[in-house]
Amino acid sequence: MPGLALLDHRLLIITGKGGVGKSTISAALGLLGARRGKRVLVCEVNAKERVAPLLGAPASGSSAREVVPGLFTVDVTPRDAMREYGTMVLRFRSIYDAVFENRLVRFFLRAIPSLAELVVLGKILHEVRAEEHGRPRWDLVVLDAPATGHAVQLLRVPAALLDTVPPGPLRRDAQWMHDLLVDPLTTALSIVTLPEEMPVNEAIDLDSAVRDVLGIPRGALVVNAMPEAIFSEEERARLGELEREPPPLGPAARAAWLQALRAEQAARSLTRARAALDLPTILVPLLARERWDRAAVEDVAAVLAGSV
Ligand SMILES: Nc1ncnc2c1ncn2[C@@H]1O[C@H](COP(=O)(O)OP(=O)(O)OP(=O)(O)O)[C@@H](O)[C@H]1O
Ligand SMILES: [Mg+2]
Repeated sequence: MPGLALLDHRLLIITGKGGVGKSTISAALGLLGARRGKRVLVCEVNAKERVAPLLGAPASGSSAREVVPGLFTVDVTPRDAMREYGTMVLRFRSIYDAVFENRLVRFFLRAIPSLAELVVLGKILHEVRAEEHGRPRWDLVVLDAPATGHAVQLLRVPAALLDTVPPGPLRRDAQWMHDLLVDPLTTALSIVTLPEEMPVNEAIDLDSAVRDVLGIPRGALVVNAMPEAIFSEEERARLGELEREPPPLGPAARAAWLQALRAEQAARSLTRARAALDLPTILVPLLARERWDRAAVEDVAAVLAGSV
C-alpha cells in the first residue's frame, strides 16, 4: 500500500459481510474526516438509512444533508440516481418526467440489472470528482457499500462494461469510473469483519475478489467488536472449576468462562485473518452499549483516530 493515510484518500469504500459494522465504521470515518477539517459525504446505497440516525440526525434521503458540521449523508437509490442521470441528459425535469414515466423506469431497472448499478455508482463517483467554485465539492467521500456479493456486483460494473461495450458515451463513462476506482491516490477499499469464523471466511474471499476481479486499491482490514481477553489461561481453568460452586458464584464463573472462551476464539479468528490477508489491521473493541447510537460511534471514532 502506498504511504497515504486512509483519510487522505478521496474515496473510501467500506464493505464486508452483513451486520459486521460497515455503517458504524463509515459513520466514524466520516466524523474523523470532518474533525480534520474535511468536507465529507457518506453515501449509503439503496438502504434503510443508518448513518444519519446513528449520528443522531433524521434520515437524509436522496439529497445530501449536513448531519454534523462538515459531514453530509445521502442515500443513493437506483430510481433517484436514474432520475438525476436522466434529468442531466435531458436537461429538464419536466421532460424527464414525461419521457421516463416511473413505470417505464422501473421496467428498465429490472430488465437491465447492471443499469441500476451503473447509475448508482455513476452518481457516487460523480460526487467524488465534482467541483464547485474551482475546488472539489467533497474532500472525502465514504461509501458505506452493500455487503460482500452486492458490493462486488456494484463495483465491477465499469470494468465489465469496458470488456463488452464498443467505443461511445457509455464506454467513456465506464472508463472514467474505472480510472477513478483503481487510482491508489484516490480510492481505498477496506473490509470490515467480526473476529468470527464465517465473517473471516467471507472477508478472505472478498479480498481475493478485490485483488483479482475489481483491482481496487486495498486499504485496511477492520476487525470489529473484538472481545477483550481479560483472563489468563490459568484463570480460565480456575473459572471452569468454580462453575460447580452454588449461586451466585457458580453461574458468574460460568459466564466469565464463556466470555474467556469467546475472547480466545476471537483471537484465533484474528490470527487466521491476519495470516490470510496481508493488510494493515485495525482492531475495534467489542463495546458494551445498551443503545447503539452517536456516543457508541464516537467511541469507535476515538479508537480509529490513531490508525487512519
Ligand atoms: N464495536 C462494536 N461493539 C459492539 N457492538 C457493535 C460494534 N460494532 C457494531 N456493533 C453492533 O452491530 C450492529 C450492526 O452494526 P452496523 O449497522 O454498523 O453493521 P452493518 O455492517 O452496516 O450492517 P448491514 O449489513 O445491515 O448494513 C450495531 O447496531 C451494533 O449493535
Ligand atoms: Mg449498514
